Amino acid sequence: SGPCGSVPKHIEHFSKFSPSPLSMKQFLDFGSINACEKTSFVFLRQELPVRLSNIMKEINLLPDRLLTTPSVQMVQSWYIQSLMEILHFLDKNPDDHRVLGEFVDALVTIRNRHNDVVPTMAQGIIEYKEAFPQDVVTNQNIQYFLDRFYMSRISIRMLINQHTLIFDGTTNPVHPNTIGSIDPHCQVGDVVQDAFHSAKMLCDQYYLRSPDLVLQEMNKKSNHPISIVYVPSHLYHMLFELFKNAMRATIETHESSNNLPPIQVLVSLGGEDMSIKVSDRGGGVAFRRIENLFSYLYSTAPAPQIGEHTRPPLAGFGYGLPISRLYAKYFQGDLQLYTMEGYGTDAVIYLKALSTDSIERLPVYNKTALKNYKVSQEADDWCVPSKEPLDLSSYKVAKAK
Ligand SMILES: Nc1ncnc2c1ncn2[C@@H]1O[C@H](COP(=O)(O)OP(=O)(O)OP(=O)(O)O)[C@@H](O)[C@H]1O
Ligand SMILES: [Mg+2]
Repeated sequence: SGPCGSVPKHIEHFSKFSPSPLSMKQFLDFGSINACEKTSFVFLRQELPVRLSNIMKEINLLPDRLLTTPSVQMVQSWYIQSLMEILHFLDKNPDDHRVLGEFVDALVTIRNRHNDVVPTMAQGIIEYKEAFPQDVVTNQNIQYFLDRFYMSRISIRMLINQHTLIFDGTTNPVHPNTIGSIDPHCQVGDVVQDAFHSAKMLCDQYYLRSPDLVLQEMNKKSNHPISIVYVPSHLYHMLFELFKNAMRATIETHESSNNLPPIQVLVSLGGEDMSIKVSDRGGGVAFRRIENLFSYLYSTAPAPQIGEHTRPPLAGFGYGLPISRLYAKYFQGDLQLYTMEGYGTDAVIYLKALSTDSIERLPVYNKTALKNYKVSQEADDWCVPSKEPLDLSSYKVAKAK
């Protein structure tokens, strides 16, 4: 058989290893003054196949009706192709400079190939949902899978970005102090301002107005602006999504009003957590719906078509919240919504204050994961309330099950 015939064998082999989560400190060490491209190369040519293979095992566990959609097939073929391209370096000499150069090029090719994984996967989900609308268990599986799949993707892109940014032989002209994509002194307030500004521009374009920002910082340790060791682009992504949501809600609930209540942001640094609260007065959502807001299947936005340019800019696939929560969780943080229907919503991003606590959170393919794909629908152990009014006169005798 050709090279592709051996792919399942490679996946089998590399999925037996657990991914190795890196700490912020390890990421920084890979990229500091004594940065060693050879060490990074030797690590990545093993670690990338491990992370790819672990998640490829899970792709294969998706329900057939989803796995066989053209979109998911395409995503799967990208993963196979990229795995093959990295395996190509396994028997190459790490002391050969040409090999190191070719590796950087290969990583760039792989990153570009996977650019559209999220919308393509989303398209597969839409196709599946249209064909098979009601299936609670499969919905749970898909949610479980996509959280792990997108987390794996975030981590793989992080590894690729660090290596390519650090070893392409130039310094970042805009942010000379960053190490790859990590800023050792990421000024949280600045990122809040940037993300707010971008969301505001979209909002002005679409609604012709936008709420203001009120930003406050609470630093227990000093009077300095709050800063952490973090990936500014990840923080920006989360805040941008929260601001788009807050602005849309604010405007849609104050349509007939001349003034808009501002969006209030509180940044707080403690000993363990660095928390950011984004508060809006956009009317909130029913508490019952909160879980669905993080679902990849229950998006409220109409399904956008890939390449479509006419959709409202403040609402897309409905992936804003679930993907933002993954970014927060990636370095051991979280993202939660506290809402009061009729008033507004607080969205809180929790990040680790200390870089020693910021360690990658990675899915691993093992027996526990496998078991989660095998859950079948069982009867609920809480009573289901009946919709009809109960006629107590007919309840003289206890009902048998
Ligand atoms: N601050 C908020 N106030 C009221 N409703 C909100 C708020 N944030 C989110 N929602 C509701 O949650 C839904 C899901 O939000 P999410 O950001 O995940 O997707 P979206 O905004 O619909 O699309 P996308 O973010 O992908 O462009 C929104 O459509 C909206 O109905
Ligand atoms: Mg959104």
